[in-house]
Amino acid sequence: MSDMMKAVQINDFGDRSVLALNNVAIPTPNENDVLIKVRAASVNPVDWKIREGYLQPLLSHSLPLTLGWDVSGEVAGVGKNVTQFSVGDAVYSRPEITKNGSYAEYMTVSADEVALKPKTLSWQEAAGVPLAALTAWQSLYELAQLEAGERVLIHAGSGAVGQFAIQLAKLRGATVYTTTSSRNTDLVLGLGADHVIDYRQEDFSTLKDLDVVFDTMGGETQDNSWKTLKKGGRLVSIAKNPDEATAAEHGVSAVFCFVQPNSEQLAKLADLADAGQFKVNIDSEFTLNQVADAHERSETGRAQGKIIINVSA
Ligand SMILES: NC(=O)c1ccc[n+]([C@@H]2O[C@H](COP(=O)([O-])OP(=O)(O)OC[C@H]3O[C@@H](n4cnc5c(N)ncnc54)[C@H](OP(=O)(O)O)[C@@H]3O)[C@@H](O)[C@H]2O)c1
Repeated sequence: MSDMMKAVQINDFGDRSVLALNNVAIPTPNENDVLIKVRAASVNPVDWKIREGYLQPLLSHSLPLTLGWDVSGEVAGVGKNVTQFSVGDAVYSRPEITKNGSYAEYMTVSADEVALKPKTLSWQEAAGVPLAALTAWQSLYELAQLEAGERVLIHAGSGAVGQFAIQLAKLRGATVYTTTSSRNTDLVLGLGADHVIDYRQEDFSTLKDLDVVFDTMGGETQDNSWKTLKKGGRLVSIAKNPDEATAAEHGVSAVFCFVQPNSEQLAKLADLADAGQFKVNIDSEFTLNQVADAHERSETGRAQGKIIINVSA
């Protein structure tokens, strides 16, 4: 194979015009890495937030940087310490976000961040799972410790994270309340939501005595969520660091979740998908030449599922 590949990179932080399709060297896996031939990537809001430079105070990226932190593809090479994967395995991953990403024909990923791809999902569907589904898993199962019979409010149930959160909450046996606008009512009911609140027409803050709020929006949405929780309730936010004093005033706990790579959780998600218990809705598909359009779609805040970049699917 040639030593060169195409990758969508940024050389400066800024608007969509900084995205460039470059010819770069195919990376070499280090001893603990797998080299993945990328079939599909997906776009998450963090991609354009990093592109804009908003996250520089938290994550110091060096430039040029290849964006994209969701991948499905085939193992094309392994480092000498890697025993769990072989060339040709179909895999998926949400890799470490400070390194080069998946808007590229090849990428290297630490083997402990990789899992076998769900067999029943397409490359595109599989690429849509890792970052958003791990976020929902870690927020609801690890941090909120959601239990069967509890009542959970999931904000933006029609978003990528929200859709996975509804499904995981239902699998846990919880009753799900979710906010979205009316055009997405059927979508979220189809994923198992029990109660849908059109946030443009109705005031979700009249809900009472909830066990858990999953805040995917921050801002006023978080501000208006506190009073919906019962004493001892739990709020997990992925959008705004919740204020400890406000949580204490309401007698609840509150934490921020920043999603972490986790191959064991990815393997469990693959099992759920292959058992038909977990599905992926695709909002739209683009090519490596169209990453700016894919970012534009994500930046609208109106996506109804995953935005996919077809690399060699
Ligand atoms: N901390 C972390 O580790 C982490 C991980 C993943 C994501 N995030 C963050 O979480 C947020 C959501 O991510 P995502 O990928 O799910 O986004 P997304 O797919 O782009 O979300 C789009 C959805 O949000 C809905 N929405 C917009 N405003 C709303 C509101 N005020 N109330 C209820 N629903 C609303 C839209 O529905 P309508 O069109 O009906 O309004 C749309 O379906 C982003 O800010 C992202 O950066 C953080």
